[in-house]
Amino acid sequence: MTGDSMSNTLKPYVISNVGMSLDGKLATVNNDSRISGAEDLKRVHRLRAMVDGIMVGIGTVLKDDPRLTVHKIDTTPRKNPVRIVVDSKLKIPLNARVLNREAKTIIATTSKMSREKEKKLKMLKKLKHVDIIETDGDRVDLKKLMEVLYKNGIRSILLEGGGTLNWSMFKEGLVDRVSVYIAPMIFGGKNAPTYVDGEGFKSVEECVKLKLERYYLMDGGIVLEFEVVKNPDKNK
Ligand SMILES: NC(=O)c1ccc[n+]([C@@H]2O[C@H](COP(=O)([O-])OP(=O)(O)OC[C@H]3O[C@@H](n4cnc5c(N)ncnc54)[C@H](OP(=O)(O)O)[C@@H]3O)[C@@H](O)[C@H]2O)c1
Repeated sequence: MTGDSMSNTLKPYVISNVGMSLDGKLATVNNDSRISGAEDLKRVHRLRAMVDGIMVGIGTVLKDDPRLTVHKIDTTPRKNPVRIVVDSKLKIPLNARVLNREAKTIIATTSKMSREKEKKLKMLKKLKHVDIIETDGDRVDLKKLMEVLYKNGIRSILLEGGGTLNWSMFKEGLVDRVSVYIAPMIFGGKNAPTYVDGEGFKSVEECVKLKLERYYLMDGGIVLEFEVVKNPDKNK
């Protein structure tokens, strides 16, 4: 699975994966995100084992403290992809589980510094299994990040949210494939996080178009897999 063979651009091939309620929520208003059952978790870990990197936004690290390793399935040899955290202001706590030594971690941040941030950067640079990638601007430049990751040999990424980062990745046209588990649950709540948040597209013409490729039942819900249609107008 590579950027060269599957998307013709020099960026990693990106698969967006989430578990959501039927109404598109990633968690309840109280941030309860226990959506996937045992079988779906195994599906996610099989996907993790197939890619070079697993990417999340700092919001997900602060709210869920995920490990982002392959631990729900047996793999021999055991392979943990690089974990990538998008964190402009280096809000990542030093005791976050994503910084444990089970895998390498890349923290993508901006070159904009504050005294506090510089202090944190110094501490993070001391960790041998942690690398920092800096881009210009107020927020991480995701296109630039993809370019740098590709140059560093990362050819495939599993994007595991949350909704704010998902929006930016879709908006920038950086997602190639979508794989979602829809649980037979309805969470409701205007403020519950959804699969894709952000400001949203203004019209149907602008929105991301998908081509359904596969679907199957799992854990009482359904898994849907889509290809992102690049340049949809070309096919008209
Ligand atoms: N059900 C699931 O499968 C699943 C999966 C993942 C997450 N979740 C849920 O999703 C929620 C967290 O989502 P979230 O939206 O709060 O956080 P998020 O998408 O994980 O992280 C968003 C943050 O990333 C940083 N960022 C840096 N550069 C960015 C860029 N170019 N574009 C967008 N973001 C950028 C921003 O913070 P800075 O500006 O400070 O850098 C931003 O606030 C939690 O409730 C979690 O449980 C559910």
